[in-house]
Amino acid sequence: MTLASTAATGALSGQSQLVIENVFKQFGEGPGAVTAVDHVSFDVKPGEFVSVIGPSGCGKSTLFNIIGGLLDEYSGNVMIERERIAGPHKAVGMVFQEESTFPWRNVVENVAFPLELQGVNKSERLDRAHHFIDLVGLKGFEKLMPSALSGGMRQRVSIARTLVSGPQILLMDEPFAALDEQTRLLLGDKITQIQQDLNQTTLLITHNLTEAVQLSDRIVVMTYRPGKVKRIVNIDLPRPRTSDVVSSDAFGHYVAEIWADLREEASRGMADSESARRASSRG
Ligand SMILES: Nc1ncnc2c1ncn2[C@@H]1O[C@H](COP(=O)(O)OP(=O)(O)OP(=O)(O)O)[C@@H](O)[C@H]1O
Ligand SMILES: [Mg+2]
Repeated sequence: MTLASTAATGALSGQSQLVIENVFKQFGEGPGAVTAVDHVSFDVKPGEFVSVIGPSGCGKSTLFNIIGGLLDEYSGNVMIERERIAGPHKAVGMVFQEESTFPWRNVVENVAFPLELQGVNKSERLDRAHHFIDLVGLKGFEKLMPSALSGGMRQRVSIARTLVSGPQILLMDEPFAALDEQTRLLLGDKITQIQQDLNQTTLLITHNLTEAVQLSDRIVVMTYRPGKVKRIVNIDLPRPRTSDVVSSDAFGHYVAEIWADLREEASRGMADSESARRASSRG
């Protein structure tokens, strides 16, 4: 058993809200089959912020979709409060990387949408929507259409729309990928604050190392394809935490330590695409 798998299995014995146990997913059959997720195990405890980091193509979004109940053909278990999930779970809220606001609805109508589906009456819907708009720092923008907002503001609308229905577990797949570094750091502060205020159990999928260290209690480092758990690192930086932490020595040490692992995996990914390119130019 490797060090990583010992750590992952050991973590399963605590009081976990979300348990990922031996999850395996392959696309296709025969020689062209791709193993996207290879026996991945880790857990997330109540109120904990865990990030999954790994190079492009290592199976992060596949894992995200499995945990969110959007991909049901896989082996292993995803358990929420000790029950194996079958399809999307009501305790889970998801934020996707892609633009996902409704362009024909203004900010408050976007954020209140899940409450409309739940049949919540209008005045309560508006109250709750305003509360979360305020939390993500969009007070004053309620009546604007998404087209009048920046990319970072639209992403905050998506986050508020996910938070408004009070998910016990927040899943986010590269929610800040399209943002510039300053916006990313500041939005990270908002997320940290919300997560701490609501004691929100959070799983973030990212390929951004500084973002992962800034936000997380633990980081699951994945290998390049097939995506296995390479290592799980505890981030013992003080909380409450703000983006100022990025200038501390301890932060730099975590980044350097995890980068050594990530570089190895990213290099394998680069070598793989280089040999595929050569093979296709020969053929
Ligand atoms: N629906 C699918 N059909 C076939 N192969 C797929 C499918 N979805 C993903 N894959 C393959 O599985 C592997 C993992 O893809 P995935 O999207 O999970 O990676 P990722 O880590 O999220 O990458 P990125 O950082 O670029 O978003 C890739 O090789 C991809 O081509
Ligand atoms: Mg992805």
